[in-house]
Amino acid sequence: MEKIILTGDRPTGKLHIGHYVGSLRRRVELQDSGLYDKIFVFEADAQALTDNIENPEKVRQNVIEVALDYLAAGLDPERTTLFIQSQIPELCELSFYFMDLVSVSRLQRNPTVKTEIQMRGFSGESIPVGFFTYPVSQAADIAMFKATTVPAGDDQEPMLEQCREIVRRFNNIYGETLVEPNILLPENAACLRLPGIDGKAKMSKSLGNCIYLSDSADEVAKKVKTMYTDPLHLQVNDPGHLEGNTVFTYLDAFATDEQVSRLTTDYTTLQEMKDHYTRGGLGDMKCKKLLTAVLQEVLDPIRQRRAEYEKDIPAVYEILRKGCEVARAAACETMDEVRRAMKINYFDDRALIEEQARRFQN
Ligand code: TRP
Repeated sequence: MEKIILTGDRPTGKLHIGHYVGSLRRRVELQDSGLYDKIFVFEADAQALTDNIENPEKVRQNVIEVALDYLAAGLDPERTTLFIQSQIPELCELSFYFMDLVSVSRLQRNPTVKTEIQMRGFSGESIPVGFFTYPVSQAADIAMFKATTVPAGDDQEPMLEQCREIVRRFNNIYGETLVEPNILLPENAACLRLPGIDGKAKMSKSLGNCIYLSDSADEVAKKVKTMYTDPLHLQVNDPGHLEGNTVFTYLDAFATDEQVSRLTTDYTTLQEMKDHYTRGGLGDMKCKKLLTAVLQEVLDPIRQRRAEYEKDIPAVYEILRKGCEVARAAACETMDEVRRAMKINYFDDRALIEEQARRFQN
C-alpha cells in the first residue's frame, strides 16, 4: 500500500515557532526522508470559515501568509503538494455522504468539539451546523487522499478516531474503498504545546505572546528578553527552577547539545546548563542569550527563504494553484471509486442500464 501523508492548518494567522516545533519541522523531515510516496499539506480555509463566520477576510488574508510560512520552513512544492481546501469541491461531496455515517450524539461526544463549543460560548442549539459537523468534513479531507499518516498534535486525536470510524463504516457498507489513517504525534514532549513567551499555556495571537516565523532577528531578540522565567530566581546565586520556566522549555524544544557546546563557553550539553541553573549561580540573561542564538540559527534560513518568496507573490499563488490541480486530480480519482462503490455511477454502470431496460421490456 502507498504511504501517504496528509496534514494541514487553518489559515487564521501567521505561523509561529510553536507551529514550527509542533508540526512544521517534522513535516519537512518527513518530506526529506523520502519514505513517503505522496505528501499533501493543505490550508483548511473552509474549516477556518466554520469558526470565522463574521470575519472571512481574516481567512482570505492569511492564505498567503501560511503559504509563505510553509515554503519558508522548507516545504518544497516539487515534493509536497501544497493546496487549499476550498478549491477541491469533491471534499464537499464526500463530506455529504460521510454525514450519513455519523450520529449527532457521536459528534457531541467528540472532546475537541466539546471544548471548542464551550470556548466559543455557543449555548444549546445555537451552534452553526457547519461548525458542529467540521469533524465530518475533516474526515473527508483525510479519507479523500487515502492518507495513511496524519502528523498532528494530540488535540487532533479525536478527529482521527472519528475519521477511522467513518471510514470503517463506509468500507463495511460499500466494500473496501477508503483507508484508515494513523496519527503521527510530535516526539519531543516540549514540542506538544509550546507555551507563549509570557509562560501562558498556549501561544496565541490574542494574548500577544507569540514569536512568529516571520519576526525579524531584532523582534526575536527583544521578545526573548521579556520572556517569563522563574519568579523565585531573584539573585543569580538563588537556585533556579526549570518547571514552567519558558526559557528552558524553549531550549528543550529547539537546542541541540551541539549548539549548546558551540554557542556557550561553559557547557557541552543542555543538561549541564540546567544543572548549573538549578544549583544556583547561573543568571537568566545568560540562558536567554543562548536561546536567542539558538533561535536565530533556526530562524535565519527560514527568514531568508521567506524574503525570497515575498519578492514574487503571484508566483506563490501559482504554486498553490498547481498544488490544487494535483490534489484535485487525486480527489477526482477517489470520488470515482467512491461513486462506484456506492453504485451511484449510473451512467457508467452498463449492467444497471441493461437490467433496467430488460425489466421494462417484459
Ligand atoms: N483541524 C486542524 C487544525 O485546526 C486542521 C485540519 C483540517 C487538519 N483538516 C485536517 C489537520 C486534516 C490534519 C488533517 O489545525
